[in-house]
Amino acid sequence: MSQRQSVPYIPDNAPFTPSQRAWLNGFLAGMFCHTTAPAAIAQHTAAKPKLSVFVGSQSGNAESLAKRFVKEAKKQGYEATVAGLDKITLATLAEEKCALVITSTWGEGDPPDNAAAFWEQLKEDNDLSLANLRYSILALGDTNYENFCGFGKSVDRRLGELGAKRIFERVDCNVDFEEGAARWQNGVFDALKNIVQFDDAPQLNGSVTSSANGTSSPPSPLEAEMSAGCSRKNPFAARLLANRKLTGDNSEKDTRHYEICLKGSGLTYEVGDALGIMPANSPDLVNEILKALHFDGEEEVSGPEGGKMPIRLALEREYQIRQPHSAFLNAMAEHDAADQYLKELISAEVRTELDKFLWGREVIDFLIESPRVKFSPEEFVSLLKKLQPRLYSIASSLKAHPEQVHLTVDTVRYEIYGRKRKGVCSNFLAERVSNDTPVPVFIQTSKHFRLPQSGDVPIIMVGPGTGIAPFRAFLEERKMNGAKGGNWLFFGAQKSSCDFFYRDELEAFQREGVLTRLDTAFSRDQDFKIYVQHRMLENAKELWNWLEQGAHFYVCGDAGRMAKDVDKALHEIVKMAGACSEDATAEYIQKLKADKRYQRDVY
Ligand SMILES: Cc1cc2nc3c(=O)[nH]c(=O)nc-3n(C[C@H](O)[C@H](O)[C@H](O)COP(=O)(O)OP(=O)(O)OC[C@H]3O[C@@H](n4cnc5c(N)ncnc54)[C@H](O)[C@@H]3O)c2cc1C
Ligand SMILES: NC(=O)c1ccc[n+]([C@@H]2O[C@H](COP(=O)([O-])OP(=O)(O)OC[C@H]3O[C@@H](n4cnc5c(N)ncnc54)[C@H](OP(=O)(O)O)[C@@H]3O)[C@@H](O)[C@H]2O)c1
Ligand SMILES: Cc1cc2nc3c(=O)[nH]c(=O)nc-3n(C[C@H](O)[C@H](O)[C@H](O)COP(=O)(O)O)c2cc1C
Repeated sequence: MSQRQSVPYIPDNAPFTPSQRAWLNGFLAGMFCHTTAPAAIAQHTAAKPKLSVFVGSQSGNAESLAKRFVKEAKKQGYEATVAGLDKITLATLAEEKCALVITSTWGEGDPPDNAAAFWEQLKEDNDLSLANLRYSILALGDTNYENFCGFGKSVDRRLGELGAKRIFERVDCNVDFEEGAARWQNGVFDALKNIVQFDDAPQLNGSVTSSANGTSSPPSPLEAEMSAGCSRKNPFAARLLANRKLTGDNSEKDTRHYEICLKGSGLTYEVGDALGIMPANSPDLVNEILKALHFDGEEEVSGPEGGKMPIRLALEREYQIRQPHSAFLNAMAEHDAADQYLKELISAEVRTELDKFLWGREVIDFLIESPRVKFSPEEFVSLLKKLQPRLYSIASSLKAHPEQVHLTVDTVRYEIYGRKRKGVCSNFLAERVSNDTPVPVFIQTSKHFRLPQSGDVPIIMVGPGTGIAPFRAFLEERKMNGAKGGNWLFFGAQKSSCDFFYRDELEAFQREGVLTRLDTAFSRDQDFKIYVQHRMLENAKELWNWLEQGAHFYVCGDAGRMAKDVDKALHEIVKMAGACSEDATAEYIQKLKADKRYQRDVY
């Protein structure tokens, strides 16, 4: 009798949750099998089990996790491929034996753009049977949003409804997704081992290859697309045309207006889109890190995508050197025998204390506080994550500024644990980019944040602070189009004397009749706070009338507090001015969202 058949298995209908079942099956497999790795199984079956990973990703997080997952799967002996959710049809999905979906959520619990068409089909097709499909979902999201991981949850539910069988339960990850992603990856690999053992392997294998020696498979559609150079992977080296302070001398902020030239790039955008910028780290911070580690900067190390380079260049251009991630923390705890506290925090079951401890602490803090810890240059960079681009809501219309893109950026600076800290990208723009420094940029489309198709439809815009950015673009666009619909802007900032961004432009729009109404909320002009939502409530009746006339309602800026408070105020207005019950209010706002008349671009 073969080893495969002798291993006990927990049946699908046993009274366990999927993760308990996966764990128990893994445990039994471990007890009864000498060889559980797929590579070993492949030697028996002369085939590598096939694994398809499908990605829904807008700003690249899910995409990089998927690439990493596939790399690990290949190491473990799977024939793994990765493709965007825009690259599969329902028919091909139905033929899959095992699909892993890694997806983020955008808009209001919506799919990322590359998953939108797939989702439309999946939710409509009631004849589809996915009875042969096994799957698991890794959902990325942000708890600041109302529909946390909403799209991942919807896909999970829908695949289940269509008969697909979950092999490992969905993991919903917040912005710090590393730990959740690692948990999901381990759980999926454990669950897969059992499936590979107990299924008829050639059937699972789909396209079987006869080699078990790890030869590389042809690039998947997403890999091919990435190497062909889509804009995010291959950004345009743009030039900065203008860097102007929007805040006055007495301001507590340093918010700036940037103008960037897109000439020769072929890049275009619509108002509502965002610009992605790939920044470089601060050379001062790089010097501090090199000094703390006793490196001279010339030591050769690997880049995150392979290739060798001097560590100074790698730290400036390739790696994220501010926020420590789990690999770095684990290594610090391991190398520093004296640091019991960090060890305890890392090994605790809940992360609350660790998160508290990490708030505001950067890689440099750990290196300075633990001079005993020594890393080789290669080891050190292996503990860092790849530097990621930052997104900025576009503040201009191409019609008003051909071949240019404008931004409104708050320069992130603060002091904590006795050190001055600087946000990477906002300070790259503010301090280190001159007219001849190339700025790597790409366009990030935001299909969820669009002007109404008809210029006759009125719009209400709520954009405190940098949240004003897309509304400057909306106003420019509506002016250039000669749109007749009303435009109402709520703007908020700290002090009218020094924080009234684009005041001259807004007043000019008012004079020209483009900006129908402007309501401002300066929070620190008086002893008590006045915020945009207070101005909305003061004008509840009028705002309700605009909504009843079909106005679209837009919010941009801080997701953490402002967007939630504005949402509450909107509910209050519908309830009061519209004389609606709680239920009718919720229904009214839900309908606004469903009709794409309530759109948010919050961060
Ligand atoms: C769709 C979208 C649109 C956006 N549009 C805009 C825009 O129009 N304008 C704009 O200015 N930004 C915008 N942002 C935010 C922007 O992408 C960056 O996140 C922001 O500029 C900070 O990036 P950074 O590299 O300068 O800072 P980072 O190096 O990324 O540092 C930011 C981090 O520093 C830490 N931090 C910040 N303040 C403190 C503090 N007081 N104490 C302790 N820790 C702190 C936090 O961990 C924070 O996440 C947008 C984001 C998204 C997703
Ligand atoms: N992801 C990032 O790294 C990043 C980058 C930029 C900004 N942000 C976040 O976005 C926020 C906005 O930054 P910003 O520079 O655009 O604006 P901001 O200047 O911080 O705020 C604009 C105005 O909004 C007010 N405000 C504060 N809390 C509010 C609330 N709950 N509801 C309505 N208004 C509120 C502020 O008042 P008071 O300050 O007087 O209370 C201020 O008058 C920041 O707080 C920051 O957390 C994050
Ligand atoms: C404009 C915007 C809207 C978002 N909407 C949601 C949301 O509704 N629910 C949620 O859980 N996360 C939301 N997120 C968070 C993203 O899902 C999260 O940042 C994720 O890591 C992005 O992954 P990606 O880079 O693969 O697209 C939103 C982020 C942005 C910038």
